[in-house]
Amino acid sequence: MMKSMQIAIDGPASAGKSTIAKILANDLDYVYVDTGAMYRVVTLAALQAGIDPNDEQAVTDLLPNVKITFKPGTPTQHVYLNGQEVTEAIRSDEVARNVSAVASYAAVRSTMTELQREIASNAGVVMDGRDIGTTVLPHADVKIFLIASVQERAERRYKENQAKGIDTDTTLAELTQAIEQRDYLDSHREISPLKKADDAVELDTTGLSIDEVVDRAKAIIADKA
Ligand code: CDP
Ligand code: CDP
Repeated sequence: MMKSMQIAIDGPASAGKSTIAKILANDLDYVYVDTGAMYRVVTLAALQAGIDPNDEQAVTDLLPNVKITFKPGTPTQHVYLNGQEVTEAIRSDEVARNVSAVASYAAVRSTMTELQREIASNAGVVMDGRDIGTTVLPHADVKIFLIASVQERAERRYKENQAKGIDTDTTLAELTQAIEQRDYLDSHREISPLKKADDAVELDTTGLSIDEVVDRAKAIIADKA
């Protein structure tokens, strides 16, 4: 039997990371780890506690009180903050607007990285995020860096929000701007910025269907197995 692999999928917002990672994990019978959801949960916890997400000390002090758990589910896995389901709540515009600040803090990054490595030590994983190939799993067997034009990424997120009924008043132009802003902050932060690992394979998904992206990702994995 093929040994269990670590597969890292990184890239900017709404490039299709979680969609592709979930399908790959399901097909390979691996664990799927959505690291973005973890940073979103910490952000939601701060907002719920009335903490300013820009207050690094207050967010750092809150960390011991943030317990993040996942339960498998289709099409979306369930996410919990201290036992309370927050699967939908972490996808709001308000969380998206504040998550890059929260994700830039040293204590937040080290706590999440530790948790992510612990999960990856137990089984084959497909992990998606921004710094998986560079920092969390630098020795991952396969590293894929997914990209797509910002217009297409914003359109994808817009359609998804409309379908899910999340922040349906937000216009496509507003979403485009929010995604650009988040990518800028994520790429320019000091610790573990969004960046293609030197040994990652870049996959441009502009104009590709989900099935086409999955096929290309599988070819990249087969090449490394
Ligand atoms: O799904 P989407 O691309 O909108 O974002 P996400 O994967 O849910 O990640 C939300 C935010 O968490 C990102 O914009 C980053 O600020 C942060 N993040 C990070 O810093 N490192 C990761 N490994 C994953 C996410
Ligand atoms: O995880 P990330 O933020 O990178 O993106 P996602 O949440 O997996 O995907 C954003 C949206 O794009 C979802 O609604 C997908 O169905 C859609 N999509 C895609 O992921 N890949 C394509 N090739 C086409 C659409």
